[in-house]
Amino acid sequence: ALISMRQLLDHAAEHGYGVPAFNVNNLEQMRAIMEAADKTDSPVIVQASAGARKYAGAPFLRHLILAAVEEFPLIPVVMHQDHGTSPAVCQRSIQLGFSSVMMDGSLGEDGKTPTDYEYNVDVTRRTVDMAHACGVSVEGELGCLGSLETGMAGEEDGIGAEGKLDHDKLLTDPEEAADFVKKTHVDALAIAIGTSHGAYKFTRPPTGDILAIERIKEIHARIPDTHLVMHGSSSVPQEWLEIINQYGGEIPETYGVPVEEIVEGIKHGVRKVNIDTDLRLASTGAVRRFLAENKAEFDPRKFLKETMKAMTEVCVARYEAFGTAGNA
Ligand code: G3H
Ligand code: 13P
Ligand code: NA
Ligand code: ZN
Repeated sequence: ALISMRQLLDHAAEHGYGVPAFNVNNLEQMRAIMEAADKTDSPVIVQASAGARKYAGAPFLRHLILAAVEEFPLIPVVMHQDHGTSPAVCQRSIQLGFSSVMMDGSLGEDGKTPTDYEYNVDVTRRTVDMAHACGVSVEGELGCLGSLETGMAGEEDGIGAEGKLDHDKLLTDPEEAADFVKKTHVDALAIAIGTSHGAYKFTRPPTGDILAIERIKEIHARIPDTHLVMHGSSSVPQEWLEIINQYGGEIPETYGVPVEEIVEGIKHGVRKVNIDTDLRLASTGAVRRFLAENKAEFDPRKFLKETMKAMTEVCVARYEAFGTAGNA
């Protein structure tokens, strides 16, 4: 059944687990997520980005998610809009039947320009008023995703600040977070702790100076009743990078957010963990390997099936590690 994000995250907080929120663009991702949830008895958050809506079209995405709900009636599913850039964008998603929206007021309507605090409070507050009147949950964001090493958001297309970010934007301030939640009444708050979108997050396995798990603890201590959200939380599995590169890919050395660091965050109020890149890497690795090993094959279902298998494995691993398993 379709449920709101608030319902799911309240349950997660009560029982001390986190929920991976996987981005969905196509049938194979949707099936992989649901099959993994079915196997592990996990509740699901699927989210559609602006890029996904551009790729598949909002009606196709909507019906993909509704098809998942129909085929797996016992699994609770949150249909979430990722990184809305204005109240109007969120309003359209609410109209389409999304049960949760993100109003990302940390960036302007172009998805690139960092905003000031008052602007963020204003657009988020207005979105909450509208969404709550419809029984829809809202995620806000305070602070900007970006590398503590370089100040760069590291995302070429889609959502991400352009140019070098001021250091004070890269780490969410606990006092400001408390004020933001009080003024906006958001159901969940995305925070900045040094992660960024995409595969190029860290040039070395991250330590506390570039991945600020301590900051999560400080924010959680200040606003213990607020559900925290980690964006840019792909782990960038080294084994998938190796497979991609073994079969013709050329991805340079790079590191993501270790699963055990996310688990530490979950112990301190993180309830939603956004993951897109890991499914992309698994999918690409599976296609490259299959086509390299089966040069006479031309039925796309053959290699797409491999992508589903690879993505399902990633989803199962996250559901188990985050404690989501067994909570559907
Ligand atoms: O917000 C970032 C997600 O990874 C979505 O990326 O806009 O390329 O779909 P996208
Ligand atoms: P990754 O690029 O780390 O998968 O992050 C996805 C995300 O935060 C979507 O909002
Ligand atoms: Na989101
Ligand atoms: Zn994000």
